[in-house]
Amino acid sequence: MQCGAYLNEPPAKRDAGFPRRTDKSGALFPPDKEPMNATIDRAEREPATRFRPPVPRPLREPLGLFDFLRAARKNPITTWMDVHFRLPVVAAEGAMGRITVVSDPALIRYLLVENVDGYRKDDLQRRVLAPGLGNGLLSAEGDEWRLQRRTLAPIFNARTVQGFTAAMNAAGARLGRRLGRRGGKPVDVALEMTRVTLDVLERTIFTQGLPGDPDALGRAITRFLEAVGPIDPLDVFGVPDFVPRIGRLRARPAGRFFAEVVDELIARRKAVMARGEAPRDLLTLLLAAQDPETGNGLSDLAVKANIVTFIAAGHETTANSLTWALYCLSQDPAAQARIEAEVDEAGEGDFAVEDLPFTRAVIEEAMRLFPPVPFLSRQAVRDDRLGRIKVPRGSLVMVAPWVLHRHHLLWEDPEAFVPERFLPENRDRIQRFAYLPFGAGPRVCIGQSFSIQEAVIVLAHVVRAVRFRLPADHPPVTPLHRVTLRPEHGLRMEAEARG
Ligand code: HEM
Repeated sequence: MQCGAYLNEPPAKRDAGFPRRTDKSGALFPPDKEPMNATIDRAEREPATRFRPPVPRPLREPLGLFDFLRAARKNPITTWMDVHFRLPVVAAEGAMGRITVVSDPALIRYLLVENVDGYRKDDLQRRVLAPGLGNGLLSAEGDEWRLQRRTLAPIFNARTVQGFTAAMNAAGARLGRRLGRRGGKPVDVALEMTRVTLDVLERTIFTQGLPGDPDALGRAITRFLEAVGPIDPLDVFGVPDFVPRIGRLRARPAGRFFAEVVDELIARRKAVMARGEAPRDLLTLLLAAQDPETGNGLSDLAVKANIVTFIAAGHETTANSLTWALYCLSQDPAAQARIEAEVDEAGEGDFAVEDLPFTRAVIEEAMRLFPPVPFLSRQAVRDDRLGRIKVPRGSLVMVAPWVLHRHHLLWEDPEAFVPERFLPENRDRIQRFAYLPFGAGPRVCIGQSFSIQEAVIVLAHVVRAVRFRLPADHPPVTPLHRVTLRPEHGLRMEAEARG
């Protein structure tokens, strides 16, 4: 993700992450040992038989400014360069100023955990997100963020999330029935996964349902994400906010619609709570949440911003991880057979995540290959160093799961779909900061357990109901980066019912 000249590419000094050696000049050599996270299933399956999903080929040379902006707007993941996938840190000076891309696990820990006060969410990310999401947890900063995070943390703890198992199973079973009736006809898998994640959110945020057309909210969210998706060059160059952006103007009606529905829901729920009859869903929990330090609740505005945030942050992300998992399974008969055996073994009725380690591994491997959030960015609050590389105040630092998860120094056969990497017996070979679909540190995704639980349960229901087949004439299934990562030409597969 870079244009312009490269400053330096030395390996980082604070270097617990990689097995590596360097020459006197500091240039990087291939690692002595095998990459981390190596050798999982050589005995079980020959590497040649593994599925390697097609993806844009990394660039050899940096793009010129005009080509870079065009590519960044069309599909930002096409702008990554080969060096990003091979070196621990890459710094470059270009049209967007200095950008440092970090893929060294030790330096990532430093950036996101140890020196968290030295960096803030960058203006670019905020300019793109904040107009739609209000000041919810995802876009808030400083004291406002700290207060919200403290107050919201209990809502997403393990026990509360487990309480949503039945709702997730109900949505998954409904999807399974719908797919089972398709009788081998093509299904828009991406659309179905988006529907089911919205169904889960409706069942967990608003158990009493949405007023009016239940699909309308989903449509507004999709339109909103589509409108804010492309990076606007005006944002990149820091043009002041009062200059209208095309994407933002398109997002405005969708944002307004969102806000009105949510206002109505809050007002109705408050009335129900006053009568002492409220269901224990996320809306009630949000309205009842108290800051453990002060006992204060959230303002109505903060409740609203967070409902919109949960929907926007939790809906497409989880849907996309399911979509990519089903695509990879359709191309890997051995993995498909193994997941079917596990799901069948789990028996009838509701699923529990603990019974589905391979299903979970498929989801995690799909999120490695196709991280729903392909990059995180931060801005240096003051001058700093990442290893030997200077990070000037105000410059941008990126951790890109898209790059990190396919990094040649960290993964064996990084392009291959190998769910076995994530089975419990292999899991500890994966370094904590080499796999970051949910980020890390204080700003780690608050919905992580929620979405893993949801994705595993829904995938199990789909596998129980149908087996998908990709038609021979389907366009290539390649990733498009639009806030999240989705198949560029959609994913239409034939659903054959399993008896
Ligand atoms: C596969 C599904 C998901 C993925 C891959 C994902 C990914 C992420 C990532 C990478 C971040 C950190 C961003 C950063 O550090 O700049 C994040 C933050 C966040 N996510 Fe998720 N997310 C998912 C699902 C969810 C769900 C289901 C919810 C809520 C119901 C949610 C709510 C949030 C919120 C509120 C934040 C901001 C946390 C903070 O800044 O304190 N996410 N997510």
